[in-house]
Amino acid sequence: MKGIIFTEFMELVESNFGLEVLDQVLEASNDEGIYTSVGSYDHHALVKLIVNLSKTTDIPAEKLQEVFGETVFLNLLRTIPQKASLVKSDSCFQFIRHVEEYIHVEVKKLYPDAEPPRFEFISETESKLVMNYKSARCMSHVCFGLIKGCAKHFNQEVDIEMESLNESGSEVKFIVNLV
Ligand code: HEM
Repeated sequence: MKGIIFTEFMELVESNFGLEVLDQVLEASNDEGIYTSVGSYDHHALVKLIVNLSKTTDIPAEKLQEVFGETVFLNLLRTIPQKASLVKSDSCFQFIRHVEEYIHVEVKKLYPDAEPPRFEFISETESKLVMNYKSARCMSHVCFGLIKGCAKHFNQEVDIEMESLNESGSEVKFIVNLV
């Protein structure tokens, strides 16, 4: 997984919980915390950090993933050249489609070792988007947060229902309702 996800995560921990908690979490995870945004790392290391942050703060891991996704959205968006046609969307639903059709495709082209998730679109009306999230990384709660962050960026509010389609959570149905 791209290092930017790790560096963003560590920044979020430091700014929300402080350096001491970050140090405790790194120590508990047996992790030296040396990540660069352009490097590639095993995603299990991120899972470990999230689990230990959850233990240290007593906040459920799912909630931490959601907050992380919501915060990281704007920072990921900033990595795309602002003139790029990719950024030109005027709604959350349109942007999610851009992510699947262009942004994650470009990520894969730029970094062949990256494995962004796949979205399978099932139906869309003006106020409701139904799609399946698919990823061996099983980070649907990060996806939940990213969609929240995306909606906020477009000044929209969404209510998201999630339904696991298998036990591991590698396939999850998302029903996104505009409020
Ligand atoms: C609504 C917006 C977005 C959603 C829902 C979304 C969803 C996700 C999720 C859930 C992951 C975690 C890995 C996984 O579950 O397999 C991920 C990874 C990633 N996303 Fe997105 N994303 C969004 C926008 C963006 C944007 C704007 C960028 C900008 C470049 C981006 C670039 C990446 C990168 C680099 C990774 C790491 C992939 C890897 O290293 O394997 N995403 N995305």
